[in-house]
Amino acid sequence: MDKVDPVKLNYQTGFGNEFATEALVDALPKRGNSPQKVAHGLYSELLSGTAFMVPRETNRRTWLYRIRPSVVHQPFAQLDNGFIRGAPFDNQVVTPNQLRWDALPIPEAPTDFVDGLITMMGGGDASTGTGLAIHIYTANTSMVDRFFHNSDGELLFVPQQGKLIIHTELGVLDVAPNEIAVIQRGIKFRVELIDDFARGYVCENYGAALRLPSLGAIGSNGLANPRDFATPVACYEDKEGDFTLTCKMNGNLWSAKIGHSPLDVVAWHGNYAPYKYNLAEFNVIGSISFDHPDPSIYTVLTSPTNSEGRANIDFVIFPPRWIVAEDTYRPPWYHRNVMSEFMGLIHGQYDGRKEGFVPGGSSLHNCMSPHGNDAEVYEVASKADLKPHYIKDTMAFMFETCMLYKPTKFAMETEQMQQGYSDCWQSLQKHFTETN
Ligand SMILES: [Fe+2]
Repeated sequence: MDKVDPVKLNYQTGFGNEFATEALVDALPKRGNSPQKVAHGLYSELLSGTAFMVPRETNRRTWLYRIRPSVVHQPFAQLDNGFIRGAPFDNQVVTPNQLRWDALPIPEAPTDFVDGLITMMGGGDASTGTGLAIHIYTANTSMVDRFFHNSDGELLFVPQQGKLIIHTELGVLDVAPNEIAVIQRGIKFRVELIDDFARGYVCENYGAALRLPSLGAIGSNGLANPRDFATPVACYEDKEGDFTLTCKMNGNLWSAKIGHSPLDVVAWHGNYAPYKYNLAEFNVIGSISFDHPDPSIYTVLTSPTNSEGRANIDFVIFPPRWIVAEDTYRPPWYHRNVMSEFMGLIHGQYDGRKEGFVPGGSSLHNCMSPHGNDAEVYEVASKADLKPHYIKDTMAFMFETCMLYKPTKFAMETEQMQQGYSDCWQSLQKHFTETN
């Protein structure tokens, strides 16, 4: 297993900036983007992440200066999809029941990141540029001579176990549990494992690029601050050999032979670039009087739709934080939501659950499916002495969407699906009296 040279792990800070980085001196053109001759004999190539005419604020593109242009590879042939799915996500009947899964096991056979991707559910359709898919990866092998890119959407990595080194065309990211990374649509990468195995969640975004949410009355600071996002510096491989380029398009896997490493970008400038973020840097804001705000107060990144506030994806976290609200039922309230909620747990315990929601596990409360604390949590929380309380050693998260999640056949049939999840609410007692 090749370990990354620590000097390559250099980052530029900021979110969506016009970054400029070169691994060789003067590799970036001094003037213009595509000069007749690029320094060092490089090719120039434009990578457009948004339509050319998108307004400047949301326009995303990067100029690459590389050893060979991306077009140099053999034709693609279709591969078996394994457990990867796209719309219509196996056409399963969508149940209104609440669903919950244990952590998926680590495979015994050698399995790299791509082979270990399992689609749990999705909504919308990559071919129309709306919606998302939720995958879980379990892997025990690095991608060595294999590279991957996803034409269907950007990938939000949420590692739960095992550190990853993600070698991309634009640089190298090291991503540990409690950190996230985003690799944009089309950018090639390979995933190296540092530990014996790795497991995590991947949210695949078919819609508008993830961005920081507007802060409204919060003001100009707070939640995820732009300076805490890290984008790698340019770092290239000049390698020839028998390599494989795997691509996902419209939910299907394709494979092509390529005689060189496609991670051969020597310099680049632009704002369409991978980034990572440490969830511990999230500036948590909450109630200091009574009640608690909607979970949108914990939004790290959002993929908006054309309908203001109705997100294609809200990536929301539930980090360690003080809970101080007076005269308040402090855990999450019982509720039903027009938005659909997939939850995962990176480590620790979620404050809404006493047991059953385990690190690496998942839950789905689809559009209008009621949910809330189990009976045991309710009985404790509704009688608790409301002293300031610190929720520690935890990191749960939610991929919330305006789409209806459609679980895959795998998700509905795996033995990791918990039977009897709804039992946790059946012992909620009737406390009603007409006299108070
Ligand atoms: Fe909820």
